[in-house]
Amino acid sequence: MTEFKPLVFSGVQPTGNLHLGNYLGAIRKFVALQENNDCIYCVVDLHALTAQLVHEDMATQIRSITAAFLAAGIDPKKHIVFNQSQVPQHAELAWIFNCVARIGWMNRMTQFKDKAGKDREQASLGLYAYPSLMAADILVYRATHVPVGEDQKQHLELARDIAMKFNMDFADKIRPTGLGIDIKVGDEPVHAYFPMVEPLIDGPAPRVMSLKDGTKKMSKSDPSDLSRINLMDDQDAISKKIRKAKTDPDALPSETEGLKGRPEADNLVGIFAALADKSKADVLAEFGGQQFSVFKPALIELAVDVLAPINAEMRRLMEDPAHIDAVLRDGGERARARAEKTMNEVRDIIGFVR
Ligand code: TYM
Repeated sequence: MTEFKPLVFSGVQPTGNLHLGNYLGAIRKFVALQENNDCIYCVVDLHALTAQLVHEDMATQIRSITAAFLAAGIDPKKHIVFNQSQVPQHAELAWIFNCVARIGWMNRMTQFKDKAGKDREQASLGLYAYPSLMAADILVYRATHVPVGEDQKQHLELARDIAMKFNMDFADKIRPTGLGIDIKVGDEPVHAYFPMVEPLIDGPAPRVMSLKDGTKKMSKSDPSDLSRINLMDDQDAISKKIRKAKTDPDALPSETEGLKGRPEADNLVGIFAALADKSKADVLAEFGGQQFSVFKPALIELAVDVLAPINAEMRRLMEDPAHIDAVLRDGGERARARAEKTMNEVRDIIGFVR
C-alpha cells in the first residue's frame, strides 16, 4: 500500500472584501502549512463568475486577494500562488467531472440552495456546477490536503465522491497505465488515480460568526459592515467593531463547556484563540470570570497587533500591481505545467487521442 505525495491546495474567491473569517478559517492556516508542505494557493476567479457574471473591478479583486496571501506571509517562490483562469486545465477537468458527478449529488449542496435563493431557475448553470470545478481545482494537482473553513466541508465531501467514482469507473483503464496507486478508503482497497482529499478544518475558529449575531456566519455578503472585520479595516474600525460586537451580560466561563448556548461569547473566544494561536481552553484559563469589559479591550489589542501589519503590507503591495501580476504569472506558469501533466494522464486514462 502506497500513499499519494502530500500536497496542499486551497482557493479563495475574489469577491468582496476579505474578512476575519477568511483569514482565520483559511489564510492563516495556509501560512502555517507552508513550513512543512508543498502548497498551491489559488485565487479562484472562474468561481467568481458563478454568482455574478460582470465584475467592474475583477482585476483589482484578484490582486487584492493575492496581496492578502503575500501580506499574510505566503512565500510565492517556494510555493505556488496564481489565479485560476491562467490554468485552463481546471475548467477542462471540471467538464470531465461534470460527467462523473450525478445531478442528485449537486441537488444536495446546501451552499447552492443558499446562494440560489428562492428563484432557483434563475441561478446560473455555473453556480450549480460550482463544486465540480472546485473538485477539479484540487484534483488537477492530485492534491491531498485542503485547508478551508467549515462552510466548505460539504464541497470537499463531494470532491471525494467525484474522485472515488472516477477511480472506480475507470479502474480497468487506470491499472494498465501504471499511473494509479493502491490506497485504502475505509477498509476498502482501491486502485486510485485521484487521492481522497482530506479537509483541514480544525482549529479554534473553523466558522467565524457575525459580530452582530453569533448564529450567523461572518460573510462578505452581510449588508452590515459592523458584522465583520475586514482585512483592510484600520485600527479605529477594528476597535469600534469589537466594542460594538454583540455579547451577553454574563462573565466569561472558566471552561469551554460554559460557552454552550452562548454563541457570541463562544465566537469572540474562538477569535481570540485563533489570533493568539491558542486553544479556547487556554483563553478561558486566562479570562474565565472576567467581564466583556475586560475581555474586549484585550481582544482589540490582539486583533490590531495581528492585523495591522497585514493591512499595511496589503496596502503597500496594492500600490505595485505590476509586481502582483508578475507573481501571478510566474505561479500560473508553474501551475500550468503541473496541471497539464495530470490532464495528459487523464486523457490517456479516458482514451482520448492526442
Ligand atoms: P470563499 O472565497 O468563500 O472563502 C475563502 C475561505 O474562507 C473560509 N471562510 C470562513 N472560515 C471561517 N469562518 C467564516 N465565517 C468563513 N467565511 C469564509 C472558507 O471556508 C474558505 O476556506 N469554494 C471556496 C473557494 C474554492 C476552493 C477551491 C477552496 C474554490 N475552489 C478548492 C478550496 C479548494 C469559497 O468560496 O471560498
